[in-house]
Amino acid sequence: MKYLYLNTLFFIAFGWFRLVYSVAWDQVDTFKAPLTFQKQEGDGIKIIASNLNVPQEIAWGPDNQIWIAEHAGVVSRMDPVSGSITKLLQLKDVWQSRSAGLLGMALHSDMKQFPYVFLCYTFQKEKNYATRLVRYTSVRDTLVDPKVLMEIPVGNGHNGSRIAVHQGLLYWATGDALSLIDSQNPQTPNGKILRMNMDGSAAADNPMKGNPVWAWGFRNIQGMVFSKSGQLYTSEHGDATDDEINLIGEGKNYGWPTVQGFAESSEESTFKGLNNTIDPIKAWTPTIAPAGLDYYPYDKIPALKHSLLLVTLKAKSFRVLKMDKEGKKILSEQVYFENKFGRIRDLCVSPAGDVYLATSKRDWNPVSGFPLPSDDRIIKISKLDPANPQNMISSIPAGSKSAQLYLQYCASCHKENGTGVKGTFPSLLSSLIVVNNPKEFIKKILAGSNGPVNISGLTYDASMPSFAFLKDEDLIEISTYVRSLGSNHAAPIKPELIKEVRTALNK
Ligand code: HEC
Repeated sequence: MKYLYLNTLFFIAFGWFRLVYSVAWDQVDTFKAPLTFQKQEGDGIKIIASNLNVPQEIAWGPDNQIWIAEHAGVVSRMDPVSGSITKLLQLKDVWQSRSAGLLGMALHSDMKQFPYVFLCYTFQKEKNYATRLVRYTSVRDTLVDPKVLMEIPVGNGHNGSRIAVHQGLLYWATGDALSLIDSQNPQTPNGKILRMNMDGSAAADNPMKGNPVWAWGFRNIQGMVFSKSGQLYTSEHGDATDDEINLIGEGKNYGWPTVQGFAESSEESTFKGLNNTIDPIKAWTPTIAPAGLDYYPYDKIPALKHSLLLVTLKAKSFRVLKMDKEGKKILSEQVYFENKFGRIRDLCVSPAGDVYLATSKRDWNPVSGFPLPSDDRIIKISKLDPANPQNMISSIPAGSKSAQLYLQYCASCHKENGTGVKGTFPSLLSSLIVVNNPKEFIKKILAGSNGPVNISGLTYDASMPSFAFLKDEDLIEISTYVRSLGSNHAAPIKPELIKEVRTALNK
């Protein structure tokens, strides 16, 4: 009790700034003992937290603490110096399944006046599921007084999401929730960037009066940031191709699902012409699974100045996207730490110019060999030298061309060794079609699928993208490789078969 009382006094004296050294950890419920070991990983690179559980979002707070939102519904605050962590909130109704869970967090940019913390998460109420945006109020070491600002339809995947606060308004990037029609319908909330007042009502000067929609045509945004000059950027997961970075304009259409990446095909350019869609400022094929996005305005690490900083899941890297002066073009891309820390889901930048990365190795789709016992981790970067080869570990392990193509296009779902993920992505080793029915096998790669498919008595409700965009020679490499994976011992696929199936499918 004595400590509780002392603690309260400290808070009265110091506002909501936390004192980490002067409390007895075991006396106060909301405090956890430091979880963390701190370890130097190289010049200017330090592990400052470990044993986290999928930090979905990390944010630098005005209290100089790192605020952490974990996928299972936990919000906490960490002292970046001592590594000690205080748990502020455990959501009770979060629905955590595959990618669904606690998905985004933002702090109000003026917390002294508006001590608000915004969260979005998928939840379950009896037999109903939805995604909601909630405003909490930060009081000492808890978050209280939740106000639900909006509830929108949820999907088995593609629920986004990120939140940002800018000039007193709230921006919420919502996923398409696997609907193929919502993104192009400005009257529904999915596949959009919504712009709202602090109470969830549509901002007064939005493009359509009374409608929170600010921009549309999105699939599944995973990173969102305002630059110093107030431009809004997003990172987004594409389907089999075309992950994107977009510069967001008021009332603009970004083309999904018809336009993927730059409008290149004739169907895409026709759609672009009719609907005035906006191309991304950067796109990636093969995909990299971009996630958290931030902007770096500081001098401390010169290689990062005036760049978008991006972390990636599938490509397991930290990327620096240098922009032109106006922030309208990406001039170069520098990839750091490939494979060094595993999947990275979010990052934040402190006012001192240090960058913090948060790994995502305990999530639903881990890479083989992970998680390590100390995952997930937060890594502090205070120095970065592009000339130091230690920072530039190469991504794709050396191997045959076919192995590389398989890693780039198939392994994120079916896993490096082809075993898949039970109940979600089928194994390619025990597949009946891979070895015994080459025509169906090639058909599956070219056509993909959308909706539940029954394989050997199990239902798979995740969809498989079409890989018809791959060149025939790459398709031969990949399909032949899959037919030789693990216990599969089947003959190479012939070019004629690919031509025959393409013609039959008109792909
Ligand atoms: C985004 C995830 C994803 C990616 C990437 C992906 N697949 Fe699939 N794949 C699935 C899902 C989900 C299914 C199950 C539904 C179905 O059969 O359509 C599936 C099914 C299959 C099947 C059918 C298995 C059976 O026994 O019927 C084959 C074969 C296959 N994939 C091969 C590939 C190959 C080869 C690649 C790379 C070119 C690839 N997949 C990339 C998700 C993916």
